[in-house]
Amino acid sequence: MSESLQTVVVRFMTMNDVPAVMDVDSLSLPTPWAKRSFQYELTENPASCLLLAEQQGENSQIVGFVGFWMLVDEAHISTLAVHPVHRQKGIGSQLLLEAIRQGNAMGARLVTLEVRLSNQSAINLYHKHGFEVVGRKVHYYMDNQEDAILMTLRDLRERIAVADGGVG
Ligand SMILES: CC(C)(COP(=O)(O)OP(=O)(O)OC[C@H]1O[C@@H](n2cnc3c(N)ncnc32)[C@H](O)[C@@H]1OP(=O)(O)O)[C@@H](O)C(=O)NCCC(=O)NCCS
Repeated sequence: MSESLQTVVVRFMTMNDVPAVMDVDSLSLPTPWAKRSFQYELTENPASCLLLAEQQGENSQIVGFVGFWMLVDEAHISTLAVHPVHRQKGIGSQLLLEAIRQGNAMGARLVTLEVRLSNQSAINLYHKHGFEVVGRKVHYYMDNQEDAILMTLRDLRERIAVADGGVG
């Protein structure tokens, strides 16, 4: 594990975290969630799971977050972002792996997501962690009519074993 990862802890999000999470969201995604959306996901939607990455230290700081919805046996990634200053240090991977771990614990047999066709960083991240392209939704994103790439991970337990240092 790298030095940076040792100081970043992933935990469940609470309503108190929402302002800091919204800061990361607005710096990261073209259509960030409103406060009401986080509130709904955290307090009213039983299918929703939201996690965040917090850099430990004297002034602990929220540096990223991930969400998914449990839809029967499928964990569907709803959001993922890392603060621009803290990217390419493994935090996105740490968040994604924890979402996979939580989804597996909640009974998911597969993890699914949509990603913008132009978002090569995220597509690379998902490929790195075993996701495969399974489809495309034309003009899926309403803000710019961009296509979405659909990606799926089927081997959750293998991914978790690899992350834990096992053979997989
Ligand atoms: C996508 C995102 C979450 C990745 O977070 P991160 O903490 O930088 O990711 P990691 O450091 O764990 O990188 C893991 C892999 O992702 C890929 N990746 C990350 N940043 C990349 C970049 N700038 N260019 C190309 N590939 C990149 C690489 O494959 C990398 O593996 P490597 O380090 O072995 O090359 C981050 O770039 C982000 O927040 N982007 C804006 C929001 C977003 O696009 N969210 C996804 C919506 S579907």
